[in-house]
Amino acid sequence: MRIRKFAFVLAAGVLGLAPAKAQEQVEVLHWWTAGGEAAALSVLKDNLAKQGVTWKDMPVAGGSGVQAMTALRARVTAGTPPTAAQLLGFNLRDWGSQGFAANLDDVAKANDWEKLVPEPLKAFSKDAGHWVAVPVNIHSTNWLWINKAALDKSGLQPPKTLDEFIAMLDAFKGQGITALAHGGSPWQDTTLWEAVVLSIGGMDFYRKAVLQLDPAALKSDTMRKAFDTMTKLRGYFDKGFSGRDWNLSTAMVIKGEAGAQEMGDWAKGEFIGAKKTPDQDFVCIRFPGTQGNVLFNADQFMMFKLGAKDIPAQHKMAAAVLDTSFQVAFNKVKGSAPARLGVSDAEFDACGKKGIKDVAEAIAAGTMVGSLAHGYAQPDSIKNAFFDVVTQHLNGQLTTDQALTRLPAAIAAAK
Ligand code: GAL
Repeated sequence: MRIRKFAFVLAAGVLGLAPAKAQEQVEVLHWWTAGGEAAALSVLKDNLAKQGVTWKDMPVAGGSGVQAMTALRARVTAGTPPTAAQLLGFNLRDWGSQGFAANLDDVAKANDWEKLVPEPLKAFSKDAGHWVAVPVNIHSTNWLWINKAALDKSGLQPPKTLDEFIAMLDAFKGQGITALAHGGSPWQDTTLWEAVVLSIGGMDFYRKAVLQLDPAALKSDTMRKAFDTMTKLRGYFDKGFSGRDWNLSTAMVIKGEAGAQEMGDWAKGEFIGAKKTPDQDFVCIRFPGTQGNVLFNADQFMMFKLGAKDIPAQHKMAAAVLDTSFQVAFNKVKGSAPARLGVSDAEFDACGKKGIKDVAEAIAAGTMVGSLAHGYAQPDSIKNAFFDVVTQHLNGQLTTDQALTRLPAAIAAAK
């Protein structure tokens, strides 16, 4: 079989049957390796294949892209950047300001991006007034995913407040299942923590503590309550939580081994992949007490500066990403809201419709702000200072008193 294929290729070459023009290709570095993520990515691969652009995959497993960022640094340092890389928030700014990004102004102009991309995303898609990245979605982190059968068994309504949330977790504990599925890693701990902070302090407090880094807010009684709540929530995890990948925790909720998971809306991709239906098999709600607010993280593809031969494929990919039909096809699988304004929600399921509505309302009200855990609130140095304190506290290495002293100090040192 192999020999025959080789003989054909050889004959084709000799007879001049090989394509005269090199195939357009994009090499894309990303961390979408979980089932739902990979399914969404296929939508993009297929779209580009139809336009004659081949896809060279550079997947780097690891939720939220921690490992992917190390791999990207290595490639750029070696002088061989990929065509495009999935990036978030302040990492976009880092690469953009260092002069590694290709200029996408022409594609942006031809496709009206200025008008179509919401301001909070645009602030990260551009560097010094030039488009350097194309946003693919609007995810948000303050979501709760609940197993519907466990909820029905509890006789409770989906929780709207933290107290109702705790009551639901107690009921799940009583059912003999893991009440709260959690994967212990700094980004996952902080994804939970930022939802708790928002729930307890509200948007003004989140802004003060997380966005403005106000020292008084960082060691306030409200922050104390947030850390104490984290300790309480830890009591609802199972023994094996440490180091577990986010999608394995989602699988526990899907199978009914756990009652609920706090996670961004990429979790929906796992439910859909397992052929589960919103409101029938699972329930998606804003994390109790955070209704009306959206902590967003938008995946964006930055194109790297390469030779002239790579530009057509880069431009095709950039234009494809913000195309309306692609935005629908991709985001309904990924769990996110479209990255362009005004896309119809008709094809989205109940969770998708809710996400789109929440995002539109929060943008209008000015209550869509960046997720800390996913790089949209602070640069890496400060984000990592938060990560250290949140994770050490959750793992019992710091008391709440110590966390309240350590947090402002770690942030001041990182500034
Ligand atoms: C987020 C990213 C999502 C999803 C998630 C888990 O940072 O924005 O698209 O991939 O990580 O890996």
